[in-house]
Amino acid sequence: MRHDPFQWPKPCLGSGTTKLLGVFGDPIAHSLSPIIHNLALSRLDLDYHYLPFHVTPEHLPQAVHGFRILGGRGFNATVPHKEALVALMDDLSDAAIRTGAVNTVSCQDRLIGHNTDGHGFLAALRDMRPDFPQGGKVLILGAGGAARSVVSALLETSVEAIFLANRTVERAQALARFFAPHDTQRRIQPMALAVDQLPWDEVTLLVNTTSLGLKGETTLPVALHRLPADAFVYDIVYGPQGTPLTRLAQHHGLQTMDGMGMLVHQAAAAFYLWTQHEMPIAAIQDHLRQRANADRQKAD
Ligand code: ATR
Repeated sequence: MRHDPFQWPKPCLGSGTTKLLGVFGDPIAHSLSPIIHNLALSRLDLDYHYLPFHVTPEHLPQAVHGFRILGGRGFNATVPHKEALVALMDDLSDAAIRTGAVNTVSCQDRLIGHNTDGHGFLAALRDMRPDFPQGGKVLILGAGGAARSVVSALLETSVEAIFLANRTVERAQALARFFAPHDTQRRIQPMALAVDQLPWDEVTLLVNTTSLGLKGETTLPVALHRLPADAFVYDIVYGPQGTPLTRLAQHHGLQTMDGMGMLVHQAAAAFYLWTQHEMPIAAIQDHLRQRANADRQKAD
């Protein structure tokens, strides 16, 4: 009898021809990528398996080498490896060069570093708002690794201004300098995360890229009441019932989205690079939401 492709966990038997995919991170146990990719592989009946690997920064070069020697076909990278991987690749995609970070590696004769995070950010946004961000001004909170992909993607759009607000203003300034060669119209404006001084009333899109909210904190300094009524609030963190920021924004009557869509879209782009198959995005998203709800009910 054939297994239900969305039954999880499904037995992973593998065979002599099963091809290896994976994700490197430190930490890695929380990663949803193995679930996403193995569900898609199972649903499409593809002979691959995707495993999480706990790789510390000092072991990254050996891990990349070892994975390749073992015949691995491709891997994702998460915190803290995305920037360090750039120097370990034989070749880089345009998006990886532009972003200065690699989240997807395909291992053929050569190691090719890609970055699918920016694509994931925009694809998820356009699922909800196909018109976004036309012209318009964007306020990004945070200037770390996640902001890097968001800024890189937004620079490819017609967005009018990117206000980049960070607690440590020097990091926002450094990111603006990094992107300066691609930002000939000087659309990126670094600023301190000083709530009273941010241009809330000018923006049509607010993006939270800070790690705040990951553990359910609500202390991100925001003035959502000052956003225009049609502004969109996009938190790239995700949670079973949205995030503290998206819940607060809904309370203000604003349209919102959390990071689940971005997570699945960036995975789908990597999946396509490795397998040349389209990931069943909507089915995977449904499954993740159901799973998160079940986990939450168990915890209640
Ligand atoms: P990631 O790769 O997830 O972006 P990161 O590079 O460590 O992780 O960046 C985390 C981001 O969250 C940074 O913009 C950080 O601000 P600082 O550069 O000032 O550290 C932001 N952040 C984390 N905790 C924060 C807090 N309590 N208040 C405001 N911003 C915070």
